[in-house]
Amino acid sequence: MYNDDGIVMLSRVYYIHKEMSNENKTIHEFDFNLICEYFLNTERQGPGSPEVTLKALGFIDNLTDQSLIADLGCGTGGQTMVLAQHAPGHITGLDFFPGFIDRFNSNARGLNLQDRVKGIVGSMDNLPFGEGELDLIWSEGAIYNIGFERGLNEWRKYLKTGGYIAVSESAWFTEERPAEIHDFWMEAYPQIDTIPNQVALIQKAGYLPVASFILPEICWTEHYFAPLVKAREKFLAKYPGNKTAEELVAMSHHEEELYRKYKEFYGYVFYIAKKITL
Ligand SMILES: C[S@@+](CC[C@H](N)C(=O)[O-])C[C@H]1O[C@@H](n2cnc3c(N)ncnc32)[C@H](O)[C@@H]1O
Repeated sequence: MYNDDGIVMLSRVYYIHKEMSNENKTIHEFDFNLICEYFLNTERQGPGSPEVTLKALGFIDNLTDQSLIADLGCGTGGQTMVLAQHAPGHITGLDFFPGFIDRFNSNARGLNLQDRVKGIVGSMDNLPFGEGELDLIWSEGAIYNIGFERGLNEWRKYLKTGGYIAVSESAWFTEERPAEIHDFWMEAYPQIDTIPNQVALIQKAGYLPVASFILPEICWTEHYFAPLVKAREKFLAKYPGNKTAEELVAMSHHEEELYRKYKEFYGYVFYIAKKITL
């Protein structure tokens, strides 16, 4: 959840947890529970869509009723429920926030999926799975919490040979970009890279890169930003005059503005890859 600078990222909103450092309080600190509540009002906590989840799933074969699937950084499970409705097997959703997992499990019950879809609280850097146990690791918009390269390397051992990993990650679309957006990302997530470099990391980590595709803009605009408009109104109405709530909303709004201004330079890319050796 934290990178070396003590920056915490949830979705593309980033903020500094001041207790993590001795530096002067120059940047905002946000309360975890408030952040959780803010995103609980949305169907998903990052860019994506049911269509994109299904497109990525289309590259994966060999799943059966016995398959074990993990969705890491599952949030409230928007994508997990789509997966469960279109793929066989058992899915464990894992997320750091108990509030998201509570909502995840009630969503699973609401769709009568509770027998094969279960949410658990945990951290993606300490997974509760056995080596070679999983047929598929899924992670939409969440691998950045551990870092793309580290996640690819560390999660690989939990996969069977022939198992798949499917992750979406932020990427640069061009070799160069305007300073404003470059600087924003260098502070938020300096590991962001170009698509060819990310594919090279997948290969280097011992996977066969099976497919990659850029998420369409509507994954940001319709499925992520639009629901946040309502969530913001509700949130501000509940916490009138609360500085933290106002700052969180302002940062989330800033994220949206930056995307609209610079979307030709960056976005999310889905990568699907297969573990090919022991
Ligand atoms: C951008 S959200 C994506 C959520 C969901 N996959 C989606 O696409 O809607 C990132 C998720 O990662 C979770 N997360 C952050 N750090 C984590 C960690 N160390 N272990 C597990 N989950 C983590 C957050 O709680 C959040 O739900």
